[in-house]
Amino acid sequence: MSVASDYSSVACARAFPNIALIKYWGKCDERLMLPFTDSVSMTLDIFPTTTSVEFTSAGDDRLVLDGAEIRGAPLDRVRRFLDIVRERAGDIRHALVRTRNTVPTGAGLASSAAGFAALALAASAAWRLPLDETSVSRLARRGSGSATRSVIPGLAVWHAGHDDESSSAEPIVGPRLAMVVAVVDASRKKMSSREAMRRTVATSPYFDGWVSSTRRMTGEMLDACRRGDVRRIGELAEMNALRMHAVIEASDPPIRYLSAGSVAVLDRVTALRDAGVDVWATADAGPNVVAICDPSEVGRVVEGLKGLARLHVAHPGPGASLVPAAESAAEVVGA
Ligand code: PMV
Repeated sequence: MSVASDYSSVACARAFPNIALIKYWGKCDERLMLPFTDSVSMTLDIFPTTTSVEFTSAGDDRLVLDGAEIRGAPLDRVRRFLDIVRERAGDIRHALVRTRNTVPTGAGLASSAAGFAALALAASAAWRLPLDETSVSRLARRGSGSATRSVIPGLAVWHAGHDDESSSAEPIVGPRLAMVVAVVDASRKKMSSREAMRRTVATSPYFDGWVSSTRRMTGEMLDACRRGDVRRIGELAEMNALRMHAVIEASDPPIRYLSAGSVAVLDRVTALRDAGVDVWATADAGPNVVAICDPSEVGRVVEGLKGLARLHVAHPGPGASLVPAAESAAEVVGA
């Protein structure tokens, strides 16, 4: 099947991954993707995903990822997402979705946040839905919770809300931070965050404690951001990440994402801090660790983590944006 097309009729968008400083872990409504708690993140300026959407006359959606046609679970997920878009727009047409990921293969950086943020904006443009940040953020949430925040540039808070309308992200003020992504293990994680969240909510005896402490910490984090207090932001981010891993590990059966390699990086971050470097660590649902610091400390942090992991330096990045047709053809197809 050919994927050649006329790019003048294509809606295309780009978005970047984000790393949470206060994590989202656990949904109270699986269908609407409503989280138990607010979360806070920084959108990165590395590893963009570019996604185009064009209507097809075929009776089904298609997904082309990095030039290869994809079926099965990833297509089902895109199809379910586009069903929501079709329902909102009152327009049942199907689409060809082409997406290009620049995360180095197996980098272990969640690409679903950037992926669904880009898809939400491109699909909104194609189906003529509202293109404002709040509407796109709300829609992106239905594809992947963390995508809610990738619509927003730099620092963002995702308000958990209580229904579809009230659950979306918005920008917050704060200091400029740097993140050093330490890829310790490039293999695919064994359990999806969706599955692991479900098990944590259902079985972890610490879940209530996680929810109440995260709610408290979100307020403190927003305060620290407002004050520009990088040290407090780092302390809270590290504590919140370790609490997330603790609540996950306490599930039945237990789930453990951190590996010996992750612990080595966490230990090195502590050692660097003891030696006077202002650096803290966070880790998502996988073995990779992200060091958080003031941009002026990046050199010392990279030097200190060398040899433990593949390192990628990130700064605050842009929110989701539409890409002009001329650029999109080269980027999406990889021409
Ligand atoms: O990418 P999702 O929506 O399945 O959620 C992942 C959640 C964490 O990355 C572990 C934390 C966060 O807030 O991003």
